[in-house]
Amino acid sequence: MLAGQRIVLGVTGGIAAYKAVEVCRRLVDAGAHVVPVMTAGAEHFLGRTTLSALASEPVQTSLWDEASPIPHTRLGQSADLIVVAPATARLLAAYAAGLSTDLLTNTLLATRAPVVVCPAMHTEMWEHPAVQANIATLRSRGVHIVEPESGRLAGGDVGAGRLAAPEAIVAAIEAVLATAAIEQGQLAGVHVVVSAGGTREPIDAVRVIANRSSGKQGYAIAAEAAARGAQVTLVSTVELPTPAGVAVRTVETAAQMQAELTQLAPTADVVVMAAAVADFRPVLAAEGKIKKDQGVPQIVLEATPDILAGLGAAKPAGQVLVGFAAETSDLLANATAKLQRKRLDLVVANDVSAPGVGFQHDTNAVTLLRADGTVQVVALTDKRAVAAAVLDTVVEIRAHAARPDHTNDTVNPTS
Ligand code: C5P
Repeated sequence: MLAGQRIVLGVTGGIAAYKAVEVCRRLVDAGAHVVPVMTAGAEHFLGRTTLSALASEPVQTSLWDEASPIPHTRLGQSADLIVVAPATARLLAAYAAGLSTDLLTNTLLATRAPVVVCPAMHTEMWEHPAVQANIATLRSRGVHIVEPESGRLAGGDVGAGRLAAPEAIVAAIEAVLATAAIEQGQLAGVHVVVSAGGTREPIDAVRVIANRSSGKQGYAIAAEAAARGAQVTLVSTVELPTPAGVAVRTVETAAQMQAELTQLAPTADVVVMAAAVADFRPVLAAEGKIKKDQGVPQIVLEATPDILAGLGAAKPAGQVLVGFAAETSDLLANATAKLQRKRLDLVVANDVSAPGVGFQHDTNAVTLLRADGTVQVVALTDKRAVAAAVLDTVVEIRAHAARPDHTNDTVNPTS
């Protein structure tokens, strides 16, 4: 797995920097081309000589003393994988914030390659909410975290925060490369349309009927699909950072979302309807702002169009249609009913009353129900991992439909 892979090994300034030498040696022994990058802090602990001798190239530390005029992008662009071991709290914060202050942080921002981060620090620092929030942010963006171990730390303290063993780090790198090899190009040439966020239905010029959807799950699905090589169009009501390789169309209301999706869906190979579309909207939005002294307004509501049911009814042959079911009770019964009524291939059901699940959280726990009756439970995890599970299932459904012996054995109960 490692032979011929170009791996940037980032080393930051922690006591555990000496273990990076062992990681480097193991990677080189396995045939990888290792490009070492050290931060100024790492140089205090390690110096350059040992790593330069063991790696495939001399250590690089600076944005400025390079022969190449653009070292800050070159390393990240040409890497098959970047690993940071050890990663200090400072590195985690800079990476999570997108702050490019040195060669390593520039390299991390200028890459589309998989990234493995191996934190190491004292227990108090590791458990600090700021550090844990940065870890959660990085995880939600698809960064692989090799958790520190518990054990003896520098200064004699004992607790969580010790850098994972070099063999565990190398095993994690191999696993990430193996998954990336399978996933890369898995959706190449496939047009995936994703909707995200809650719609806002105007009451007057300033007020809307909204819902608690953050759009994070839809964005995670769009990002994951793009990482797997798909051409991705995201129809969104929220403005989160645009994932690499994704085209975003911003809308506000259910009607606007329907217009975009009706235009995009006929030629899409996969449609994932992760948006929380309002079920009701005011029949008439007042033109200006309704004044308080006009008395309490009586707002008459009407049903919005069920966009997904419309897409199901008009679904082209071979398209995989995915819906969401956010429920607070009878999760599986309600989700199954939706799967059938809306003619879906897959429904992603979540109990939004459970802690850490659904709206606004960075995490989610879902049950994937397929039209052929297959059920898969995805326990509480970050939304990017849920996105990966959803797309794994989409890939399986497409592969199954494409098999020559496929005799329309997928049960679509309404067809
Ligand atoms: O029926 P319910 O709203 O619970 O179904 C949820 C699924 O249907 C989600 O995928 C959501 O995006 C979609 N939906 C829709 N149009 C609506 C309401 C929901 O496309 N008006």
